[in-house]
Amino acid sequence: MSEHLRPLLEAAPSFPVALLGFLFVCLLALCVYRLYLSPLAQFPGPRIAVLTGWYEFYYDIILDGEYVFKIEQLHKEYGPIIRINPWELHASDPILLPQIYSSGVKRRVEKYSWSQSGLRLIEESHFLTESHELHRLRRKPLGTFFSQKNIDNMEPAIWQVSQRIRIKLQTFRGSESVANMNDLFTAVSADLVAALAFDEVALNNRLYKLVKQQFDSSRAARSAFSKLPSPLPDETDEDELLSPDTKLIAHLLHSNLPEQEKTTERVCAELLTVFTATVFNIPRAMVVTTYHILANPAMKKKLCQELDTLLGPDMGSRRRGLTGDTPIWVKLNQAEYLKACVKEGVRLVFGPLRSTARRNLDAPIVYKGWVIPPGTPVGMSAWLLNTDPEVWGPDPLTFRPERWLPGNHKAEMDRNFASMGKGSRTCLGIHLVYVFMRHLLAAMFGPGDQPELRLYETEESDVATTVSGISGIAKKEARGLRVVVR
Ligand code: HEM
Repeated sequence: MSEHLRPLLEAAPSFPVALLGFLFVCLLALCVYRLYLSPLAQFPGPRIAVLTGWYEFYYDIILDGEYVFKIEQLHKEYGPIIRINPWELHASDPILLPQIYSSGVKRRVEKYSWSQSGLRLIEESHFLTESHELHRLRRKPLGTFFSQKNIDNMEPAIWQVSQRIRIKLQTFRGSESVANMNDLFTAVSADLVAALAFDEVALNNRLYKLVKQQFDSSRAARSAFSKLPSPLPDETDEDELLSPDTKLIAHLLHSNLPEQEKTTERVCAELLTVFTATVFNIPRAMVVTTYHILANPAMKKKLCQELDTLLGPDMGSRRRGLTGDTPIWVKLNQAEYLKACVKEGVRLVFGPLRSTARRNLDAPIVYKGWVIPPGTPVGMSAWLLNTDPEVWGPDPLTFRPERWLPGNHKAEMDRNFASMGKGSRTCLGIHLVYVFMRHLLAAMFGPGDQPELRLYETEESDVATTVSGISGIAKKEARGLRVVVR
């Protein structure tokens, strides 16, 4: 080696040092890009959130779903559109709702669902499908099944299932036992989905095992699962699993979906999605609604009086689903206070507190001089929309069904109401939820020889939605809604 080169080589850094230096330069370049060069650099937000996703990780994972509350504060500090991580924006002005959560008819809109990745068994469902076109294709047959018209057709079956809550509560009557309403509502919701969407064959074998596998780790779902029919022997033919005589399964298999969309895995993914959504969300909404009705004697009285007037005392015809000659559900549809209680309960359940973001692919979103480039993930939060004091008044967290009654009801409430999502991916079960909740409440608070429910050591904090996850839940230590039955 030349004598001239030796000092140079000796002065050169070792390989690890060079590597570290290289990584440092890359990191610096990434920081400069995120802060100053990214197409989102024009939007405000805390520097730390702009620089790294670990900020969001800290609030959502370490602090267990707290980011949505931090985002609320950040909007106060930085304005109506903010950066909440290096890649995503968050908006707080409800005027932006139709642009962000568009119906998807005129322009393509994709879900930005990284936060829901990992739900392996339903990966193939329309719920987790990001692509605009594929989502539309997959959702269409389900949309017909859960349409208002089809739910109306299925109302006798829905009513029948709802009666099980009254029958079950009767068994607690006069005993010292405490009824856990979270479990009862979960069980009756599982019965509902089993009655409408599955049947015993569908729940057998492969699907049964998949459902079990999915839910073994969840206490609430385990108790729902115990209500489902048990499996047939293993040798049942897989073709039988997807027999066209079944309900939602039949509907999917007879739909215009292309054949590759009708595989067992795909159909199972859709059924599991519907099952999960039902046994998770309906009990949450019922627990919140029932708690407030029981905690407010005046509300309970008003509801009971309305149901008394509409349904009358004739238990004989009610057992057949009738009031006089009219189906009970037709009467329930006229019950304004009942409907207001349901709506208010669902508002305070929130669905996911922080709704999933959307990517509008075809056009920018324009707002007060800001231009959000096409393809940028941007979301809004049900937490902020459902509690905005400008819309809901000074008591947004108070359960007050009166706000939904004619005379008080304002259009902005419908605009802001975000518990069931918005736009092309609005909750598939929206009509089912309202109908089933009305039936359950009528079964518990309607006239006749009803079991009388009293709260047992339950406070609002045992039921209130305060933790943000895929869907909002009560705090970890919450004891749920417990009642004694007289
Ligand atoms: C009170 C009860 C319920 C609440 C609060 C609720 C809330 C929501 C929300 C907020 C979304 C939108 C999620 C997003 O933007 O990513 C959604 C979607 C969905 N919900 Fe519900 N849900 C409820 C009950 C149900 C029921 C009973 C079903 C059963 C059919 C259901 C099935 C679905 C499905 C399949 C989707 C995905 C729709 C799509 O991506 O096109 N939900 N729900």
